[in-house]
Amino acid sequence: EKERTLAMIKPDGLLGNYTDDIKKIIIGSGFNIVRELTVQLDEENVTLFYAEHSAKGFFPNLIRYMTSGPVLAMVLEKRNAISDWRALIGPTDAKQAKISHPNSIRAMCGSSSERNCVHGSDSQQSAAREISFFFGDIPPETLKHDE
Ligand code: CMP
Repeated sequence: EKERTLAMIKPDGLLGNYTDDIKKIIIGSGFNIVRELTVQLDEENVTLFYAEHSAKGFFPNLIRYMTSGPVLAMVLEKRNAISDWRALIGPTDAKQAKISHPNSIRAMCGSSSERNCVHGSDSQQSAAREISFFFGDIPPETLKHDE
């Protein structure tokens, strides 16, 4: 059974020209990129997308970071897409990732617990919400193939 997740390359990832390297990893890992969209988020968008973090101390910085330049949102599809993409990106704290998960995407292009260059949905519920945040309803036809 195929699954979809929302992947996002954040402003530091785009500005650092990591997009091609990240896409190579995505394709090489067997994901199908179902949709993609480059967009400049505003404060309202980020507040909605990261609503669960709105009470956190780092939230004002998160808004500044996430509005500092465009992001690239992608819908990735494969079997176990959610957990496999989370495994590829590594831990939230990119500094920690460089030590504990040196081959992860965040180790490659992130620099801190905030500036971690990529995002991945953490559950099926989050994936559904985050995919519709960027793309609205996507017809499920690509899910029919394979299995
Ligand atoms: P992400 O996985 O997209 O989900 C929430 C984001 O908030 C996270 O990546 C980081 O960019 C940011 N974040 C999480 N924890 C911290 C923290 N302790 N300090 C600053 N930013 C954080």
